[in-house]
Parts: sequence; structure tokens; C-alpha cells
Amino acid sequence: MSVTHFPAGAGSSAVGTPLTKVTMPALAEMKRQGKPITALTAYDYATARLVDEAAIDVVLVGDSLAMVVLGHENTLAVTVEEMLHHTRAVRRAVRRALVVADMPFGSYHGTIAEGLSNAIRFVKEGGAEAVKIEGARVDLVRALTEAEVSVVGHLGLTPQSVHRMGGYRVQARSAETVRQLAADAHALAEAGAGAIVLEGIPREAAELITAELQIPTIGIGAGPGCDGQVLVFHDFAGLTFAPAAKFVRRYVDAGSLLRSALERYREDVEHRAFPSDEESYHLGEQERNTLEAERLAGEQALRRA
Ligand code: KIV
Repeated sequence: MSVTHFPAGAGSSAVGTPLTKVTMPALAEMKRQGKPITALTAYDYATARLVDEAAIDVVLVGDSLAMVVLGHENTLAVTVEEMLHHTRAVRRAVRRALVVADMPFGSYHGTIAEGLSNAIRFVKEGGAEAVKIEGARVDLVRALTEAEVSVVGHLGLTPQSVHRMGGYRVQARSAETVRQLAADAHALAEAGAGAIVLEGIPREAAELITAELQIPTIGIGAGPGCDGQVLVFHDFAGLTFAPAAKFVRRYVDAGSLLRSALERYREDVEHRAFPSDEESYHLGEQERNTLEAERLAGEQALRRA
């Protein structure tokens, strides 16, 4: 099937772009060079391949999977096993991008040892090149870094804290909370985080933190001043069912395209317009003749009886 076929001798990702593997140090280098980092979430083989072949730098297997793929109300329910299952599918598709897996709620909120062993599963069993964890978990980031697990931090609006925040609210709206956020970002960077996702914060706060840090920031709902941007694939593609957040730009209305294609398919089947003769397999002439002769002989036998 075409979807599982890697073109022979593929040496490129986007057409004409040489395949240079994106690594965690490469993201830091991009920041130094002022080159924006592109990131999208993906949860399955087909979309991950499309994202990778479009030369997006980072593919995040986000725990937003819980909502956009599995239909949960928030991200809290998704399990390590579910995240691993999808990380493996993405891993099989991606050649160039950095594959980052989200650690789900509960998988790093207990002891450091638990967080460490769950993170190692994402690298060993899922093929992730880095894990993302929410909040200023500095000791855990240090332990992961010492264990050779690359870490992406995630600060600001951290969806796994939805109950503590009392909903999905923009964070760091006062000078004091911006200072706290900046201090958390510095602490994560010093502990070894290779990049930090900044979500749902005023653009001024994101700009300040981005300017102060040596490691790249990747923003979502954090304005244009971050070192890179990330979107949830289903938001980007118009495959969600609730009104989009202010920061979402829908690059294609795949939902509408799919709806009208689905209607056409239903109508074609109902009117026997699909499949056509060209879309059908055919017996060879000799086999057709043999079957026809058998059918005629059967009819004659019936008539004689
Ligand atoms: O799970 C996710 O999709 C994320 C992005 C919002 C950064 O964490």
C-alpha cells in the first residue's frame, strides 16, 4: 500500500530538502542561528509521515492524544501504554524530525525513580528521542538528564494541571508570576532541559523568557517571540469539534473536506456507482469461458431433469 511505502533511495524529506536528522543539540544551534523551529503533534503513522516529509523539525506525540484522538474531556486519562502505542507508530514514520513523547499524567508525579523508569520506557520501547514533562520538576529533569534521557520542559498553561488551574486559563499575567515563570524556566534549563514549551502565556512574558534562555522555547498560545511554534495537528487541520482557541490557525479545513467526501462515498455506494468496472478485478478470458460453459451445462441438466 502506498501509505507504507518509503520511496526507494529516499535521501530527502520535503522535496529537494536534504535529510539531516534533527537532534536536540540541533535545536539549540537553530536558536543560536535565529532559525525558527517548527513543531507539530502527530499520533499515528500517516500523519507523522506527512509532518516529517514536510520537513517539520519536531514531531511531538502529545498527550493531547487523549482529547483529539481518544475523545476524552481532558488529557488526564491517557496511560503510559496508550502513549507508547502511538509513539511507536510515529517512530516508524519519522526519519528526519526529532521525536518527542509526552509523559502522561501520573507517570512522573510520584517518585523520581518512577518518573525515570517510565521515561526510559518511552526511549527504549517507544523510540522517542526526548520526553516532555509539564511543570517545574527540576529534580526529575536533572535525574533524567543524568540518565541520558533528553527532556523538553513545558511551562505556563500546563493542561495536566487543569483542576489546579480551575480550567484552561492564560498564565503569568502579572509581573510577579512572569518572574516566577522565568525562574522556573532557568531552573529547568540548568537541570538539563534541552528546550521548553511555553503554553498559554502573554507574548511579552514569552519574549522575555526566550531572550534570557540559552535553550530554545517553543510556543503555543505564547505569541510570535518564541524560538519555535507548535500546534496540535487536529487544530492545524480542522479536525476538532469544539470552537478553536484564539491562538489556533487552521491551515486546512480537513473536517469539511472529509465530510463532503464521506457523503459522496455513501451516495456512490447507495447508487451502485462505486466500484466501477475499472475499479474491479477481472478473470481471464479462459476462466470466464470455463465458468460460463459450466453454468450452461448446469442449466441444461436442470432442464433435462
Ligand atoms: O499534548 C500536546 O499536544 C502538547 C502541546 C500542546 C504542546 O503538549
